[in-house]
Amino acid sequence: MKLLKELTTCYGPSGNETHIRELIIKNIKEHVDEIQVDVLGNLIARKKGTGKKMMFAAHMDEIGLIVTYIDEKGFIRFSNIGGVSPQRSLYQRVMFENGITGIISYEQKHEDMQKLKLDHLYIDIGAKNKEEAERFVKIGDAACFKGEFICQMNRVISKALDNRIGCYLLIEAIKQIKDHTLDLYFVFTVQEEIGLRGAKTSAFTVYPDYAIAVDVTLTGDTPNAPTMAIEIGKGPAIKIKDAMVITHPIVRKMLEDTAKKHCIPYQYEVLEKGGTDVGAVHITKGGVPSGAISIPTRYVHSTGEVVDMQDVENSIKLITKIIS
Ligand code: CO
Ligand code: ZN
Repeated sequence: MKLLKELTTCYGPSGNETHIRELIIKNIKEHVDEIQVDVLGNLIARKKGTGKKMMFAAHMDEIGLIVTYIDEKGFIRFSNIGGVSPQRSLYQRVMFENGITGIISYEQKHEDMQKLKLDHLYIDIGAKNKEEAERFVKIGDAACFKGEFICQMNRVISKALDNRIGCYLLIEAIKQIKDHTLDLYFVFTVQEEIGLRGAKTSAFTVYPDYAIAVDVTLTGDTPNAPTMAIEIGKGPAIKIKDAMVITHPIVRKMLEDTAKKHCIPYQYEVLEKGGTDVGAVHITKGGVPSGAISIPTRYVHSTGEVVDMQDVENSIKLITKIIS
């Protein structure tokens, strides 16, 4: 749990993955044969085997904000990095790389909150004026959201479980896997939240025989949620389809057979909007048979995302069993 807390609270909006990458390297370097960081910043770790190449991908970036303008009074205007909701951003705390914290507020003459846009919001870092603000924050600086990490009733509430939970799964799998013949690549990708960019280059480099992405998915288990057959606590979700991929039948069968054989509960994911790394991986070069394991997560892209640790344990089991 200590590792998961460290991962989720680490700063790493898309394009600014240095800190989170270093943290992951520190935790896996004793357990892999090779580590490579590619041009875009993807972390590619290998556990050598004599068999076919299998790639696991989890994005390490998180959504965030980027500074566009600082006004005379020192209020900071911003644009989004990835899927940031104006409503979910209100009164949230954000953190810049240098540790400066800001609070997001909005132009208060605004009345219809449904029509609230990011343009109406600003970050207040407590500066007295523009000059003071500019001593700490400049145009182009990126911030991530802040949110306390809490575990209760075997459920975790935190920011950035999308997708530090995926990173956590791969780190735990890397530590646990002993015997394997597959040639294993664990790729911690950059810039997923702004269009699966790191997955594109890393999949081209590795060009695996099979690929599985690990990321979060939405749920339909809260009051008046959109209709979706996914609940937290009911096991890892095997992706069938999202907006960018249809899971390859070979990989789908691999996942189903492994889950059945080891009595791991699972559910099926059909995600109507959005996608994850595998959307880019499966159309690399001549194509890669690909699929995904998704962790059911409530309130994705908020500072209070919720996962069930039983799903997390079962996902680690699914990954380690599929390779052994
Ligand atoms: Co996301
Ligand atoms: Zn994600």
